[in-house]
Amino acid sequence: MQSKKNLYIKIYGCQMNVYDSLKMENLLKPHGFSLIQDEKNADLIILNTCHIREKASEKVYSELGKIKKNNLGVKPTVVVAGCTAQAEGEQIFKRAKNVDIVVGPQSYHNLPKLLEKVKRQEKWVMDLDFDEESKFDEINLPENPRHSSFLTIQEGCDKFCHFCCVPYTRGKEYSRKIPDIYREAIGLISKGVKEITLLGQNVSAFHGIDQDDTIRSLGWFIKKICEIDGLKRVRYTTSHPKDMINDELFIAHAEEEKLMPFLHLPVQSGSDKILKSMNRDHTRDFYFEIIDKFRKHRPDIAFSSDFIVGYPGESDKDFEDTLDLVKQVGYAQCYSFKYSPRPGTPTSMVEDQVPEEVKSTRLAILQDLLRSQQLEFNKQFIGKDMDVMFDKAGKYSRQIIGKSPYLQSVIVESDDNIIGEIKKVHITEAGLNSLIGEITNCN
Ligand code: 5AD
Ligand code: SF4
Repeated sequence: MQSKKNLYIKIYGCQMNVYDSLKMENLLKPHGFSLIQDEKNADLIILNTCHIREKASEKVYSELGKIKKNNLGVKPTVVVAGCTAQAEGEQIFKRAKNVDIVVGPQSYHNLPKLLEKVKRQEKWVMDLDFDEESKFDEINLPENPRHSSFLTIQEGCDKFCHFCCVPYTRGKEYSRKIPDIYREAIGLISKGVKEITLLGQNVSAFHGIDQDDTIRSLGWFIKKICEIDGLKRVRYTTSHPKDMINDELFIAHAEEEKLMPFLHLPVQSGSDKILKSMNRDHTRDFYFEIIDKFRKHRPDIAFSSDFIVGYPGESDKDFEDTLDLVKQVGYAQCYSFKYSPRPGTPTSMVEDQVPEEVKSTRLAILQDLLRSQQLEFNKQFIGKDMDVMFDKAGKYSRQIIGKSPYLQSVIVESDDNIIGEIKKVHITEAGLNSLIGEITNCN
């Protein structure tokens, strides 16, 4: 019999890392590992890392510095997985002596073999291969997936925005095959999953091969899984404006009730000059056209975006253009960041870097505007009823938290176990980060 071992996984970064971490947990279960929440009892620690900004990757080293012997007085096996592993490789062993394995995001299915090597006292065990397909072949479904689950259908990126490390850490754009992802969707739904979020670094570039070699689009696949009984909600993220040229996606938004009216569509900047120097390959007018087209197909659709401020060469006028774009679109929620030079990317080599204090001032101005839009968006629902899918207990007793169709957190009080259910909620209050409401009796 396998001896029982404790696994602790710390997740950084995006939803793709959440999905990958769950897959690692499943992969290691048959090898005797069970997931724990307390690092101090761990036999194996995996840090699933993010490399998108300097802060994110530096956090990993400070976490590595904190790892001590476990409660049995034994040093846990330490794995650095994910995008920082891919980007920094061997450097990680040099900077953090307690690391046993460095494994990239496309090779974690080899973890059992890599752990065997550590057992045989091998040092600096590393796997940074890019073999996307076999990664998905080897990995099973979770035993008890959450009611709302992720499903990766696409990985990698061929767009090479000049600021971004993703094309180097996640590799080429790759779409999984239709029969494989359809089977995974059916499997999740048969285990009680009600909401699926389709994931990809460029999910809108998805072009999956079907059984008869036909290439299928994201819109096609969404319609296909919406036919499955038991599935109640579908979302997808992250999209690139340039890919939004396939009508099947717009039609899916118009016709498919299960497809939620929310779209994360990063634009990064509102200045054509900066968009060009970022290599985004679209203009601000093209972005407006896409937004209009979505609104024509689904009038209540809500948008979110990512913004970078202080990109090299960004003038006051360029920044004003970004503020103007935000005002014209009107967002439900957004992420915004100061530009962070990433080693190896074209922009990191540019001399004309914006001073740190200018970046901070611009970020504060942009975030003020985004916050006011978010609050205004949330407040419009006071006095209205919304369908909310409940997914976890709140901080206080009787509190249950769910998500609205527009991805807002909605808090209610209830004595019933409604986790996993969709209920109509009458909204009574709205703050910046959540809505408060009461379950109505007319479900
Ligand atoms: N600096 C700051 N933000 C970045 N992002 C990607 N690379 C960088 C960088 N070098 C942001 C982009 C992207 C989001 C995931 O992270 O806005 O959409
Ligand atoms: Fe990075 Fe641009 Fe690819 Fe998005 S589209 S992952 S920002 S390179």
